[in-house]
Amino acid sequence: MDSILVRGNGPLSGQIPIAGAKNACLTLMPATLLSEEPLTLTNAPRLSDIQTMTELLQSLGAEVSRLQDGKVIAMSSHVLDNNTAHYDIVRKMRASILVLGPLLARTGQAIVSLPGGCAIGARPVDLHLRALEAMGAQLELKEGYVHASAPKGLKGGQVDFAFASVGATENALMAATLAKGTTILKNAAREPEIVDLARCLRAMGAQIEGEGSSSITIQGVDRLYGATHQVVTDRIELGTYMLAPAICGGEVELLGGRIDLLSAFCEKLDTAGINVSESAKGLVVKRKNGEIRAVDVTTEPFPGFPTDLQAQMMALLCTAEGTSVLEEKIFENRFMHAPELMRMGANIEVHGGTATVTGVKKLKGAPVMATDLRASVSLILAGLAAEGETKVARVYHLDRGYEHVVRKLRGVGADIERISAA
Ligand code: EPZ
Repeated sequence: MDSILVRGNGPLSGQIPIAGAKNACLTLMPATLLSEEPLTLTNAPRLSDIQTMTELLQSLGAEVSRLQDGKVIAMSSHVLDNNTAHYDIVRKMRASILVLGPLLARTGQAIVSLPGGCAIGARPVDLHLRALEAMGAQLELKEGYVHASAPKGLKGGQVDFAFASVGATENALMAATLAKGTTILKNAAREPEIVDLARCLRAMGAQIEGEGSSSITIQGVDRLYGATHQVVTDRIELGTYMLAPAICGGEVELLGGRIDLLSAFCEKLDTAGINVSESAKGLVVKRKNGEIRAVDVTTEPFPGFPTDLQAQMMALLCTAEGTSVLEEKIFENRFMHAPELMRMGANIEVHGGTATVTGVKKLKGAPVMATDLRASVSLILAGLAAEGETKVARVYHLDRGYEHVVRKLRGVGADIERISAA
């Protein structure tokens, strides 16, 4: 297994290009199942999760080609010859559950392995299943698989989400585009990735209103057509790299960055003493006057502070002036980076869903272990400003969600390299 070596190397300067959003692409790709005509995605990120989704769609009979070094994904589901998403693929990536809604809507039958939990939580899919039932699907759980059927097709209905689940909203939104009649999604998730999915579905001929609000109305249509869609900028990659100059000092321009994707996060950066300004090419980030101040953070569904940036923000707050309280309200086990940061000298106390971080002058490099995708990059961020060398093991987590991390950070002066396991 590869590792990444990082050495504190002073302030950063230069530009970092931000890729298309992993979490948009992972819901845009299954949308191909809804139409017999080709769907092409541009600005796609080059990530192992995208390859996993590619293999899953191909296993269902879709044609999927990754072109132009993976930045373009050309898909066609003209013929679907398999309705089962097998456990061996689904267990590798939970977003596989997002084939359930479109496959059921298009073919009337879908057999999808339950994804199972992951490092950050149990990750149930009950809200996905209730939503499809509200559209007339018959569901049966057998030997770890969801057997969903709608022999006469799905019908419009009202879905009241108990929690604004991103994935459940995406599954229901895709399924509703081909249901007979009108579907209303109440307490729907509002993430930019859902807005991006709605725009793509509309380009395919779907009739959707209200995306980005907590109430989405979909008028079902008989069929969808082909389209070409540009994947929205990855706000989590953006926020992650915005923290690099915040932690190290210096000034970095994030190409393609947009403040509207991360307003709650940018407000917290401002309170912590970081200046974020818009440029012609994206966002420019630098410290206001040298000191980082402690700030409290609570993760919430969009437009609140994103849970996917909690670990990275903790890395910044480890050397802030004062004490910060971070509350993780979305997942039940998303502080696994804390013990690793403590190995680097951070002063963190975790009680349940709350982490209290008391800033220290400087972290010290140490061998640490990546435990999940976002934790792994928070350890790299911490290593960028630590004294000495940090070795982050198990970086395969990184490859799931960050393309060319070493190249992007070296490009702004970081002392970082990837070493392959012997
Ligand atoms: C999406 O996961 C993202 N993944 C996650 O990003 C992100 O952290 C999460 O949304 C929250 O923003 C993708 O888009 C592929 P949820 P998802 O359904 O859809 C509970 C990353 O690092 N829940 O909004 O699984 C669930 O257990 C990943 O890129 C139910 O109880 O998130 C969790 O506690 C990690 N029942 C909470 O809701 C359900 O049926 C949020 O889940 C569904 C969810």
